[in-house]
Amino acid sequence: MPCLFAALLLISVSLPILTEAGPGSRSFRSRRTASTNSTIVFKNWNRTDWYRGNDFLEKWDFFDAPDPTHGLVNYQNVGNATQKKLALVQGDNVILAVDNTTTLQPGQKRDSVRISSKAKYNAGTLFIADFASMPAACGVWPAWWTVGPSWPTHGEVDLLEGVHKFGTNKMTLHTSAGCVIDRRDQMTGKVDGTNCESSNADNQGCGVLDNSTTSYGDGFNKAGGGVYAHMWTNDAIHIWHFARADIPVDITANTPDPTTWPVPVGSFGAGPDCDFSQHFQDHVLTIDTTICGDWAGNNKSMHAAGCPGTCEALLAEPSNFNLARWNISSISVYQ
Ligand SMILES: *[C@@H]1O[C@H](CO)[C@@H](O)[C@H](O)[C@H]1NC(C)=O
Ligand SMILES: *[C@@H]1O[C@H](CO)[C@@H](O)[C@H](O)[C@H]1NC(C)=O
Ligand SMILES: *[C@@H]1O[C@H](CO)[C@@H](O)[C@H](O)[C@H]1NC(C)=O
Ligand SMILES: *[C@@H]1O[C@H](CO)[C@@H](O)[C@H](O)[C@H]1NC(C)=O
Ligand SMILES: *[C@@H]1O[C@H](CO)[C@@H](O)[C@H](O)[C@H]1NC(C)=O
Ligand SMILES: *[C@@H]1O[C@H](CO)[C@@H](O)[C@H](O)[C@H]1NC(C)=O
Ligand SMILES: *[C@@H]1O[C@H](CO)[C@@H](O)[C@H](O)[C@H]1NC(C)=O
Repeated sequence: MPCLFAALLLISVSLPILTEAGPGSRSFRSRRTASTNSTIVFKNWNRTDWYRGNDFLEKWDFFDAPDPTHGLVNYQNVGNATQKKLALVQGDNVILAVDNTTTLQPGQKRDSVRISSKAKYNAGTLFIADFASMPAACGVWPAWWTVGPSWPTHGEVDLLEGVHKFGTNKMTLHTSAGCVIDRRDQMTGKVDGTNCESSNADNQGCGVLDNSTTSYGDGFNKAGGGVYAHMWTNDAIHIWHFARADIPVDITANTPDPTTWPVPVGSFGAGPDCDFSQHFQDHVLTIDTTICGDWAGNNKSMHAAGCPGTCEALLAEPSNFNLARWNISSISVYQ
């Protein structure tokens, strides 16, 4: 390992010098990565999937079983979701909404959607998700995440997640036993748990907290939304958030080059205590909005977020969910 590490260090230190020799091919907006001790190495990333506009919904499955996280939602199949306008295409963008027209009776659940890409992905992939806006309302628990066929054996990567009107994002890995993250490359986020193992009794996972007020909810939306990018290799998972005004030009130009980006907000390194090739496999991309449930349903999370009363009490009134919608500009996958 020491030899390998030294070699990687050399590569990451020498890259900016090498690429400087060929100006014009890439635009650099930051050189901060020169000091990153990570294994983010240059590669010509080719876009292999581009989800947006008209055919977006055909490439995703609609999950319509009861919410495994016990949210008070009826996840809709594709027919009902589109008919009820809870999933709709608007130009290049796709809207995923929670029902905000129906007043519920006690015991009823609210219609919502949870979709997953039909395509499965593995290590060696760069994902760039551009959201114009995301759900931000008391009672909701939205997430942009990836997950393998058998949970938690094949792992889960939560990229953008929170509850209610939280101001900041939490990124988390969930795995079966035997995955502790004891290697971090440089990152701006704060460690919130190192043991990724999830069980019924403890589903905290290993997290990283962003402290940026544009990373989640209202703050994210006020900044015009932005990009969540993540690079998944068997060596590390790095996550970046860019508010709209800070999106690197190479992303916009479809020539993403993470070696030129600032230090990631979240970094999870593989190592002897977590073999990523064993713990993360065959992931689908997932976007959902649930309501109440395991995280958002309890009084503690409600009150911490300044939301009044109980989550169940909010559920009945449709106007509480006017802002519980995703506006997805595009999701690009590069290999
Ligand atoms: C990426 O695309 C370019 C041009 O389309 C091609 O030359 C190159 O081989 C591709 N690289 C990979 C890794 O597929
Ligand atoms: C879809 O709508 C039909 C008819 O209204 C209903 O029977 C069915 O339960 C709905 N499916 C879901 C997932 O809500
Ligand atoms: C979604 O975002 C796009 C781009 O910002 C915007 O033009 C469109 O009006 C938004 N749609 C909705 C329903 O908010
Ligand atoms: C990377 O650098 C940070 C601080 O600069 C250090 O805490 C961390 O251990 C380093 N990671 C590796 C893999 O060397
Ligand atoms: C957020 O974290 C960064 C990096 O750790 C730090 O420089 C910054 O001061 C923090 N900002 C706030 C608002 O806490
Ligand atoms: C939550 O708070 C409400 C009052 O706001 C109270 O009636 C209820 O018992 C609390 N639930 C729990 C589980 O503490
Ligand atoms: C539902 O929310 C959307 C988006 O905020 C809004 O345009 C619409 O008027 C709302 N519907 C009702 C019935 O209030």
